[in-house]
Amino acid sequence: MENELKGKVILITGAAQGIANAVCRGCAEEGATLIMADINAPKLEEAVAELRTLGYPCEACVMDITKQEMVNAGVQMAVDKYGHLDGLVHCAGISDKTLFLDSTAEWFDKLMHIDLYSTYYLGFAAAKAMKEQGYGSIVNFASIAAFSGGGLMGTSLYAAAKGGVVSLSRGMAREMAPFGVRVNVIAPASIDTPMTLVGRDPESYAASIKKIPLGRRGTPQDLIRPVIMLLSDGAGFVTGQVVHVNGGAYFC
Ligand SMILES: NC(=O)c1ccc[n+]([C@@H]2O[C@H](COP(=O)([O-])OP(=O)(O)OC[C@H]3O[C@@H](n4cnc5c(N)ncnc54)[C@H](O)[C@@H]3O)[C@@H](O)[C@H]2O)c1
Repeated sequence: MENELKGKVILITGAAQGIANAVCRGCAEEGATLIMADINAPKLEEAVAELRTLGYPCEACVMDITKQEMVNAGVQMAVDKYGHLDGLVHCAGISDKTLFLDSTAEWFDKLMHIDLYSTYYLGFAAAKAMKEQGYGSIVNFASIAAFSGGGLMGTSLYAAAKGGVVSLSRGMAREMAPFGVRVNVIAPASIDTPMTLVGRDPESYAASIKKIPLGRRGTPQDLIRPVIMLLSDGAGFVTGQVVHVNGGAYFC
């Protein structure tokens, strides 16, 4: 399909690398105008420059997703500049391998701000704008950890934060439906990105493949079509859902 997102303005967080970076490219190829947000300014500029070189309309928005005022400013910038915000893909986040009994309340608080509060900040700002215009699609990123309690890459605290993402999204979907705003979740697992590859020992990498029924790890490109589907008008009757993108591995 071509131009599935033609005319749509979409804000994507985590755009500097990994899954969100690939999703940006996929959405641009489908005709979207992008606001690419990330905390990593130099890498974000590189990512934006790459898409611009290919002729795609996009701009950088340096944003720390844990700062509500920065999030509000990013959403407002999109609305002021383009007059509408059709989609939000909130993909930025961190993983965490801290074992429960090694954790501290301070670290839990920090992790919750990055992975869960950010979902509230972005969802709140975007949903408000979308309610005004009477339409919009929000896609939040959770994880298989929300359902399994954690795994190789994430432990209980991460699972709790991502479980919160699922519950918050489902609640938002219910409350925002009367205003034409849909809210869905992508729950990936075992996708090769800097998050899962940096510092990874070859044994755990090889072991992870054995647990995936489809017999391979995922790539950031594997997330493109599921996200575009949820953003597109063709998914107009889909809200409050979780799309699992994990090669069939539910407890890796
Ligand atoms: N890769 C996987 O296998 C996997 C599995 C389950 C869930 N996820 C989820 O998918 C999403 C994307 O993961 P990824 O693998 O592409 O990760 P990644 O580490 O490759 O990319 C994450 C991006 O988020 C940005 N970011 C981090 N903290 C930020 C902050 N405070 N403000 C703004 N930007 C910030 C980083 O700069 C980076 O560009 C995450 O929410 C992650 O939890 C990934």
